[in-house]
Amino acid sequence: MSESADPLDRLPAAYRSQVEQVLIPREAIAAKLDVLAAEIDRDYADRELLLVGVLKGAIFVVADLHRRLEVPSAVDFMAVSSYGSATTSSGVVRIMKDLDTEIEGRDVLVVEDIVDSGLTLDYLLKNLRSRRPASVEVLSLLTKPSRREVDLPIRYVGFEVPDVFVVGYGLDFAEHYRGLSDIVTLRPEAYGG
Ligand code: PRP
Repeated sequence: MSESADPLDRLPAAYRSQVEQVLIPREAIAAKLDVLAAEIDRDYADRELLLVGVLKGAIFVVADLHRRLEVPSAVDFMAVSSYGSATTSSGVVRIMKDLDTEIEGRDVLVVEDIVDSGLTLDYLLKNLRSRRPASVEVLSLLTKPSRREVDLPIRYVGFEVPDVFVVGYGLDFAEHYRGLSDIVTLRPEAYGG
C-alpha cells in the first residue's frame, strides 16, 4: 500500500461510510502494546500474572497483550453491565460474569479497552481488592481524562484520547464496529450524535 493511501480504505466496506476518521491506526496500537508488554515484563519479572479482561471491549487488548508477554500469565474474564445509556455510563455496575478463579495472593492486572468516567473501574477495583490479591494494577488501552469522575490509578496507559466517541479494536456502538482493526471516530449521523 502506498504512503498516500486513504486509511479509510483499509476498513470493511460495509462500515467505511460511517467512519469519520482513523484516530489510532492498527500499527500504532501494535507498537504501543509492544512497549507496554516490555514494561510489564520488567515490572513482573520472576512473578506470575493473572490478566483480568473486562468483557467485551477488552477482548483484543487481552489477546494481543497476552501473546506479547514473556512473564508467565493466565487469563480470566469478568463481564459487568452498567445501567447507562448507550454512550455514557452511570456508575451503577452489576457483575454479569464473575472470575472463574480465586485471586487471593495473586498478582492481578485488570485489562480495559477504555476508561471514561472511571466509574466501572472504580467499582471493579474495590470488588477485586476485597478478595485480597497480592496486588492489583490496571492497563487500559485508552483513557479519556477529560471525562473522569473518580481518581483512579492506571498503571499502564496506551493512549489518551479527547472526548470524542471512538469505536473499533473492541469498542462498539450497539455491538457494531468492535472488529475494526483501527480505532476510529464515527460520523455523528452514525450514532445519532
Ligand atoms: C466500556 C469500557 C469500560 C467502561 C468504561 O464498557 O469497556 O468497561 O465502558 O466506562 P466508564 O469509565 O465511564 O465506567 P461497556 O459498558 O461499553 O461494555 P462493553 O465493553 O461490553 O462494550
